[in-house]
Amino acid sequence: MRHIGFISAGLLVAAGFAPFASRGAEPPPALFTADQPAAGEALYLQRCSGCHNANLTDGGQGPGLITDGFWSNWEQKSARTLYGRILSTMPSNEPGSLLPGEALLLTAFILKSNGYPAGEQTLETADTLNPVRLHRQK
Ligand code: HEC
Repeated sequence: MRHIGFISAGLLVAAGFAPFASRGAEPPPALFTADQPAAGEALYLQRCSGCHNANLTDGGQGPGLITDGFWSNWEQKSARTLYGRILSTMPSNEPGSLLPGEALLLTAFILKSNGYPAGEQTLETADTLNPVRLHRQK
């Protein structure tokens, strides 16, 4: 049984439950209204899910966008940078084809999918994202 205990401790660490991974108590900011990620999802299903998968896990042709790999790239990065990355490089087979407003909705959808809440304020401009540091919520 000692071995089994050791193995499950290892699994817990691998799953991110190690004490050093505990999250701060600060609630995530509400950056968008509920209709924005909903509209972003519709766009996502048209333009992105073919590579990134409908549920934002690795779709075989593009990395997951809610995954450990995603967060190893984006933890503490600026939300504005994520928006800019989408606007200027995605979809990777047609970069530059998104309108800024579309990239905003897609950013809202990706943040919502990562546990960011909707609120009262419409996300109208990417400038709102400038001061926001991304932090894994789930
Ligand atoms: C043709 C396949 C394809 C399509 C369509 C596509 N992507 Fe990607 N995406 C990729 C690949 C491949 C990467 C990683 C390499 C790169 O950046 O080109 C990536 C990377 C990303 C990243 C960065 C992920 C990270 O961990 O840093 C984001 C965010 C992203 N895509 C969002 C989108 C969004 C939003 C759309 C829809 C507008 C989209 N992608 C459409 C293939 C695609």
